[in-house]
Order: sequence, then structure tokens, then C-alpha cells
Amino acid sequence: MNLGKPVSVVETDRLLLRPFTPADFPAVYAYQSRADVTRYLLWDARTDDQVREALDKKIAATTIVSEGDFLALAAELKETGAVIGDFTLELFSREHATGELGYIIHPDHHGRGYATEGGRAMLSIAFEELGLHRVIGRLEPRNAASARVLEKLGMRREAHFVENEYLRGEWQSEAVYAMLDREWRAGAS
Ligand SMILES: CC(C)(COP(=O)(O)OP(=O)(O)OC[C@H]1O[C@@H](n2cnc3c(N)ncnc32)[C@H](O)[C@@H]1OP(=O)(O)O)[C@@H](O)C(=O)NCCC(=O)NCCS
Repeated sequence: MNLGKPVSVVETDRLLLRPFTPADFPAVYAYQSRADVTRYLLWDARTDDQVREALDKKIAATTIVSEGDFLALAAELKETGAVIGDFTLELFSREHATGELGYIIHPDHHGRGYATEGGRAMLSIAFEELGLHRVIGRLEPRNAASARVLEKLGMRREAHFVENEYLRGEWQSEAVYAMLDREWRAGAS
């Protein structure tokens, strides 16, 4: 593995993935404060103060060294400069060289392939820059758009835990997707 290297800016066809700054507060608030966005996340729609706290953590999240550290990159539309969402890569296990991918796109921009485009860039960072062996993605199986993103990225559905989490007054399930470094290399060649 090659941990500890700060990730600066990654360019895709339509997106600039770059570290967060305090000026991103309105854009982050615009999607983190919406209940339809957080419906299947582990946290509820955030207040102003909660978004500030979350943004501070994102601003600091530019290097992965220890388990639990994460990279957070703002997804900026190259065409307009607007921040439309974010991507995260967390070091799930250092011993087992495994990361976890996360993403949110503002609903105004859904369905245009942005999560898949940025997700692919995050997998490239995970496997090619950090040298991880395995990347997972976890989601509530009713989150069909997120499942589709992981499938389009070529990740394998490995598990479906039935009602293993009690969230928002109901039992929720969890699907686990994964990709290995050799599968990434095979897909990239
Ligand atoms: C999941 C999310 C990031 C997807 O962002 P996006 O930019 O719209 O994703 P993409 O455009 O790359 O791909 C979405 C795919 O899901 C499909 N889709 C969307 N809603 C769907 C639904 N209700 N049922 C089935 N498929 C659906 C789209 O048609 C598209 O697939 P296609 O290219 O084969 O047509 C976005 O919905 C989101 O931010 N949701 C809220 C936060 C969240 O749940 N994050 C993931 C946590 S695990």
C-alpha cells in the first residue's frame, strides 16, 4: 500500500474532484439538509451547525493513513464550477487493505452519470494510487440508484444482510458490493 499521499485534484470528463474548502458550505448544505438525500444514509438531514461540523471534517480529509481515515473530494462541474456532490473513500481495514466508497449527488443533477463517473475516479485512486486490495460499497437494498451505480462500476454484489440495522424507526437491510484490485486491472485493460 502507498498510504499517506495527499490527494489533490482529479479530473474526469465532466467533473473536477478536489478537496473541500470553507466556501463549499452552501453547496454542501444544499444536499446534506435534504431528507430525500439522506433517506438511506446512516445519518439524518443535517442542520446548519451539523453541516458546518461535517464540512470541517471533509476539509481535513485529504490523506489516508490510519483505519477510519477518509478522503473526501468535492464534485465540481467543470462546465459551471458548481459543487454538485461529493465522493469519499474510507480506509475500512488497514490490515486487509480494504477501502469503502461513498457518494452523494444533489437531486437536481441525478441520472446523468455523475456518480458513476466520479466513482470510477475514486476506484482509480484506491487501486492505482493507494494500492488497496479491495474496495467495498454498502447500501440499503431499496436504494436502487446507488446499487445501479456500483453495478455500472463493475462491482460484485456479495452479500445481502436482512434487517440487520434499526434506523429511523424501522429495520433496514444492507447489501455489500466489492471489487478487487485484479478485477479493476482486468476491467481497465
Ligand atoms: C445514488 C446517487 C449518488 C446516484 O447519483 P447519480 O449521479 O444519479 O448516478 P448515475 O447517474 O451515475 O447512475 C444512476 C443509475 O441509477 C438508475 N436509477 C435511478 N433511480 C432508480 C430507481 N429508483 N430504480 C432503479 N434505477 C434507478 C439510473 O437510471 C442510473 O442507471 P442507468 O445509467 O443504467 O440509467 C444519488 O441518487 C444520490 O445522491 N442519492 C442520495 C445519497 C445516497 O443514497 N448515496 C449512496 C449511499 S449508499
